Amino acid sequence: MISQSVVSAAPIDPAGLAESLNAFGASKMLPRAAYIDPAVFAWEQQHFFAGGWSCVGLSAQVAEPGDQRAERAGRGSVLLVRGDDGVLRAFANTCRHRGHELLTCGAVAQRNAIICPYHSWTYSLSGALRGAAGFKGRGGFDTADWGLTELPVAEWHGLIFVDSSGQSSPIADSLSELSELIAPYEPERLVVAGRHNYEAAANWKILTENYHECYHCPTIHPELCKVSPPKSGENYPPQAGWVGGWMDLRDGMETMSLDGTSLGVPLRGLDATGLRTVIYVNVFPNVLLSLHPDYVMTHRLVPLAVDRTAIECTWAFAPEALEKPGFDPGYAVEFWDITNRQDWGACESVQRGLSSEHAQPGPLSPDEDAVYQFVTTVARGYLGQPVWSPGTKAPAVG
Ligand code: FES
Ligand SMILES: [Fe+2]
Repeated sequence: MISQSVVSAAPIDPAGLAESLNAFGASKMLPRAAYIDPAVFAWEQQHFFAGGWSCVGLSAQVAEPGDQRAERAGRGSVLLVRGDDGVLRAFANTCRHRGHELLTCGAVAQRNAIICPYHSWTYSLSGALRGAAGFKGRGGFDTADWGLTELPVAEWHGLIFVDSSGQSSPIADSLSELSELIAPYEPERLVVAGRHNYEAAANWKILTENYHECYHCPTIHPELCKVSPPKSGENYPPQAGWVGGWMDLRDGMETMSLDGTSLGVPLRGLDATGLRTVIYVNVFPNVLLSLHPDYVMTHRLVPLAVDRTAIECTWAFAPEALEKPGFDPGYAVEFWDITNRQDWGACESVQRGLSSEHAQPGPLSPDEDAVYQFVTTVARGYLGQPVWSPGTKAPAVG
């Protein structure tokens, strides 16, 4: 949610949120209701996921003119369409006749018109109504009045963001500093060579909070600790719109893989620091970008219920890597698949633990400052504050 005037506060105890917003070191996690109450989840769907920018996929999924794809966005869905002019457009995924979805969520089409599957109303790729059987010449019916509802869409470093509210300021304004950080990796140039779709029985915020700390790494990630020192993490200063940090690779390790070797090629834009570190960033509300010396891993979270989240995970490599004879992305995919499953297992256990009546918000360790940044962002959003306005910094930690 970026530069959006949130008008209603979430149905959650403000006294608990005040504790989450205390200074780092004295704060607590979000109230338990944030993870288990369907009413809070419904509020989030409306205000975080449909109330501003959220990530609905990758540009590569809608690359060619005529490509169409429907994706969830909050309680509704959006239809993404690449026009003949190469421009990506987003429409509310609901027919102007009687509301049928133009495509089922997750489905794709490739054709030079948008055709409703119910009574075949036909729209151009730019959303204008072209044909409606039986309406031709009917008095008072003008096709110009019945075009699809277009929504703001942005392609940002190979990711697609849609603003279902139609009221947010441009996403690039809010993410300019992050853009500079990401630019050397050229994610828009990379090619997805690995993909896993997961579903975790955990709230989307538990997954995000887990992503933001390596305090758990020595306990549950032996493979990760072999290649990256779990205490090496540093976080970027608080920013509006995103939270993140970086970790070092151990000496002799080229990337995050089971033995630390890379079977790809280093990304061409990286300096010496980029070749020795991995950057982990979360663009609110639902995308996790992990920037490695030789590949970019993207997790897109799609909340399905208060205690259930779909996770689309992709691994993208330089085109030069894919041209190597016998190139196999498995070295990266396997490493993170193991690590992902360790994480989802922990997150699902947190979800079950928080379902206990006895669960209460706990304190944050010194290594959980990025969790603090995320939690305070969510808490401010719950209170109805426009947390992602350009130039609005999250509170400092420490
Ligand atoms: S609902 Fe789409 S054509 Fe009738
Ligand atoms: Fe983890």
